Amino acid sequence: MRLDHVAIAVNNLDEAVKEYQTALGIKQIEFETVETEGVRVAILHLNNSRIELMEPTKETSPIKKFLATKGEGLHHVALETDGIEGVVDRMKTCGVKFLGEVRPGSRGTKITFIHPKSLHGVLTELCSHSK
Ligand code: CO
Repeated sequence: MRLDHVAIAVNNLDEAVKEYQTALGIKQIEFETVETEGVRVAILHLNNSRIELMEPTKETSPIKKFLATKGEGLHHVALETDGIEGVVDRMKTCGVKFLGEVRPGSRGTKITFIHPKSLHGVLTELCSHSK
């Protein structure tokens, strides 16, 4: 497993990108909309990982609810693994709770989320990149 990205919920993506870009001096940025998750994402590439800034695209977006209750800030960390289905099966035998099944994420990835209660308060995404 390795750290794939850290995701941060923001109210205004374009403003947040500018501030992150200025503060961290990040040049390589891509934008992407994931309709199934109700988010628009800016991907800030680091040497060995990524920061993803996310803003909600609709009222029903889980990020909209997160911002309303908790405000801006860290939303989840994402760990990349091979063979996500096998990893999920193993974790379930250890009593780890998940939010939804393994499903398609962006760019051919497969994703699911581990309930924060299973990891001491941190919402954690598991993802597999297609090889
Ligand atoms: Co993510």
